[in-house]
Amino acid sequence: MKSEKHSDLSPPSGNHQLRHRSVNKSPAAQAAGKLIRPAGVVILIMAAYALGYASQQPIFSQPAADVLAHSDFSGLQCSDAVSTGGVRRTILERVFGSRSPWEDFPPPHAAAILHKEWSKGWGSNAAVFEHLINQVQPKTIIEVGTFLGASATHMAKLTGNLGLKTQIICIDDFRGWPGWYDDEKSLKLVNGDSLLLYQFMQNVASANATESIIYMPFSASTALRALCEWGIYGDLVEIDAAHDFHSAWVDINNAYRVLRPGGVLFGHDIVWEGVKRAVHLFARIHGFQVRVDGEHWILY
Ligand SMILES: C[S@@+](CC[C@H](N)C(=O)[O-])C[C@H]1O[C@@H](n2cnc3c(N)ncnc32)[C@H](O)[C@@H]1O
Repeated sequence: MKSEKHSDLSPPSGNHQLRHRSVNKSPAAQAAGKLIRPAGVVILIMAAYALGYASQQPIFSQPAADVLAHSDFSGLQCSDAVSTGGVRRTILERVFGSRSPWEDFPPPHAAAILHKEWSKGWGSNAAVFEHLINQVQPKTIIEVGTFLGASATHMAKLTGNLGLKTQIICIDDFRGWPGWYDDEKSLKLVNGDSLLLYQFMQNVASANATESIIYMPFSASTALRALCEWGIYGDLVEIDAAHDFHSAWVDINNAYRVLRPGGVLFGHDIVWEGVKRAVHLFARIHGFQVRVDGEHWILY
C-alpha cells in the first residue's frame, strides 16, 4: 500500500524536464538560485509575521479616539428645563398617553395575586435620605433603580412630612436581575412574569403616593436620555441599579446630565467594588469629593 501511494505522488514527466533543465543552468544562475531560496523563505517568514502583527494592531482604527469615546458622555444636548409643574405632565404625556397608570389599577388578572403591600429593599430607609431631603428641599427627585419602591415610598413620606410638593421619578425596567425570583418567590409568576412592576405600583398605591411618584419602566440609559431630551432635571438624583463597574459608570454619567445645577448626585452600595471604582473615577474627572453616609455615596 505504501509504495503504491508513493508512485502515485511521483512527479509527472513535465517536472522531470524542469528538473533536468535546472541541472543545466550556468554556475552564476545556480549561485543566484541558491541565494534566492533562503532569501525567499526569510521574506515569507517576515511577511507572515508582519501580517500576524498587523491583525493584532488597530492600525485601521483610531485607538486614541476610541478610548476617549468610552468616557465621553457630552454628545447629547439636554433641553431647557420644563417648569416644576410640567415634570409629571410631560412624563404622563410621553409615556402613558396622558392618563395616570394607576387608573383602573390593578388589572383583573393581577388583582387576586398581588399582596396589598409587600416590599423589600436594601438601605431603603437609610438616614441619608432624610439628611439630603432636609438639606436640598427637592422639587424633583430622580431614582435610578427602584425595585418594589421601598426607597421611593420612604422619600415620598419624608418630602410629604416637610410639606414639599416633590415629584419623584422612578426609573426601573422592573425585571430585577437574573435569579432574583428564585431567591425570593414571594410574588407569583404569571406566564413567567413575576409582576414586579404591578407589585411596585400596588406598594405606591398603599403608601398613598400615586401623585408624588411617577415611574418610567425602561432601561436606565434610555429613560435618562429621554429626561435629558425632555428637559426634566432632578434636584436629587439617586443611583441604585446594577452594581458592576460599567453599569454604574454609565448610570452615573447619564444621571449627571439630568442633575439640576446645585443639585446632589448620590447612590447606594459604595461597598460594591464596581460602584466604588466608578464613583471615584467620576469624582476625579469632574472635581468632586466623595462622602460616605452609611452605605451610600454622595458627590460634593
Ligand atoms: C437594588 S434594586 C433597587 C432597590 C431600591 N432602590 C430600594 O432601595 O428599595 C436594583 C433595581 O435596579 C433595576 N435595574 C438594574 N439595572 C437596570 C437597568 N439597566 N435599567 C433599569 N433598571 C435596572 C432592577 O430591576 C432592580 O429593580
